[in-house]
Amino acid sequence: MGKGNKCGLASSLLCLCFFGFFSAPAKAALKKYQFDIQVKNISRLCHAKPIVTVNGMFPGPTIYAREGDRVLVNVTNHAKYNMSIHWHGLKQYRNGWADGPAYITQCPIKTGKSYTYDFNITGQRGTLWWHAHIFWLRATVYGAIVILPKQGTPFPFPQPYRESNIILGEWWNNDVEALVKQGNQLGLPPNTSDAHTINGKPGPLFACSEKHTFAMEVEQGKTYILRIVNAALNDELFFAIAGHNMTVVEIDAVYTKPFTTQAILIAPGQTTNVLVQATQSPGRYFMAARPFMDAPISVDNRTATAILQYKGIPNSVLPVLPQLPAPNDTAFALSYNAKLKSLNSPLFPANVPSKVDRHLFYTIGLGINSCPTCLNGTRLTASLNNITFVMPQIGLLQAHYFNIKGVFRTDFPDRPPTPFNYTGAPLTANLGTTLGTRASKIAFNSTVELVLQDTNLLAAESHPFHLHGYNFFVVGTGVGNFDPKNDTVKFNLVDPPERNTVGVPTGGWVAIRFRADNPGVWFMHCHLELHTGWGLKTAFVVENGKGRDQSVLPPPKDLPPC
Ligand code: C2O
Repeated sequence: MGKGNKCGLASSLLCLCFFGFFSAPAKAALKKYQFDIQVKNISRLCHAKPIVTVNGMFPGPTIYAREGDRVLVNVTNHAKYNMSIHWHGLKQYRNGWADGPAYITQCPIKTGKSYTYDFNITGQRGTLWWHAHIFWLRATVYGAIVILPKQGTPFPFPQPYRESNIILGEWWNNDVEALVKQGNQLGLPPNTSDAHTINGKPGPLFACSEKHTFAMEVEQGKTYILRIVNAALNDELFFAIAGHNMTVVEIDAVYTKPFTTQAILIAPGQTTNVLVQATQSPGRYFMAARPFMDAPISVDNRTATAILQYKGIPNSVLPVLPQLPAPNDTAFALSYNAKLKSLNSPLFPANVPSKVDRHLFYTIGLGINSCPTCLNGTRLTASLNNITFVMPQIGLLQAHYFNIKGVFRTDFPDRPPTPFNYTGAPLTANLGTTLGTRASKIAFNSTVELVLQDTNLLAAESHPFHLHGYNFFVVGTGVGNFDPKNDTVKFNLVDPPERNTVGVPTGGWVAIRFRADNPGVWFMHCHLELHTGWGLKTAFVVENGKGRDQSVLPPPKDLPPC
């Protein structure tokens, strides 16, 4: 384990026995965690303000569990902000009550109140993560979820000697809620972040951050697994290690066909497991993360660093920086993503829906709306099929379960109102965007194909889309306008990557397929927090099935009231 990456108290026992996990028989266990939401002074740069944390830790504690376990996380909110926690990528079968997005599946946990997230981890193993799911609080409230395979089930790749979590983040010196207010008043994006971080630490390239560098110690000749999470709010990131290639073996807690690369691309919300062999001449090597942005949009382009340190090498040795792709290297991004393929082995098959019951086509648009209370009288906004999603006052899942009328509509359109040349000449026209809390109703167990199409409305930009409650297969992607005739025949229905968050390329499209076998209300949104806030989101209301175990479970007694 690297320095500073010790296991949480509750999980230390599990960590100790991690490397002996082939011996004992498979048995599901109950894992309990206590999350205290506290404001704490965690200085990282000069003049940093106190931040919201879990248990005073930053990043927060790692949840360790095994496939098949039941996990209870009691969250007690001691901060002055409302809180909710999302377990990003956990499928939460029939159990949206534990999913966490505020006003979608629950009302927030108010100051002084508690809520226990109670969930089973079924049919998933790998790296996922958890984060606050209310406004921008996830900037500091996040941590890793490590799901080990069932006892006796090895990884489908060489067993690593040790492992380390590598959580990439974005740091602001300010209270992030104040930032959101600033953005809302301006009608423009608030200030970009002040640093990127690796395991909460920016590394020595920032002022007042010399002490705040994550280091991972390695032994010559051994193989390590890095569990990389992009917890940044708004930045897709490249990540590389000087002198060392990485072998990608898993994305979003799904095994992939291994491939070796010098750098990875990881969008907010995504996770990537890589194997790294410590076979270079013993020394100190920088790991580094920096944004990918191929649209004319300003981002925090600073580089976060951490150190891969061979055992016995003194700290006085100066590390070298890795070669990262250029910030606007679209070609690298497209070719990297094209290498991602599901493992699709007999044990871990890719069950891609081959026929589609429901075809959906959603356009992604940015725009400008009038805003009498904003400084310039206008504000930036975002929409799917010309609809800017308005957050309800109570959870959609409650409204759905208890049949409370007037909270949302289920008439979200399957395609945009008027087709146009989505990625042609830049358009600034506001194409009649409307506000609404509108979701799409999906029949239980039907197969869905959704094409997400980026547009030139205001600006083409890459958007990482995340669907709650499901994994999906990324069956196709391309630049320009999706062509149903010629693009569909090229879909990969054999071993497409399976994930929970996918980047829609700048001025391009992505096609995903999933089987709607998880009843409930499931949020889908751009995982750039800026765009989520502007309304780039909607929800799927997946109906109950007729079978005994095919309906939404009853809500827990301590579900927070609104
Ligand atoms: Cu990781 Cu709805 O988010």
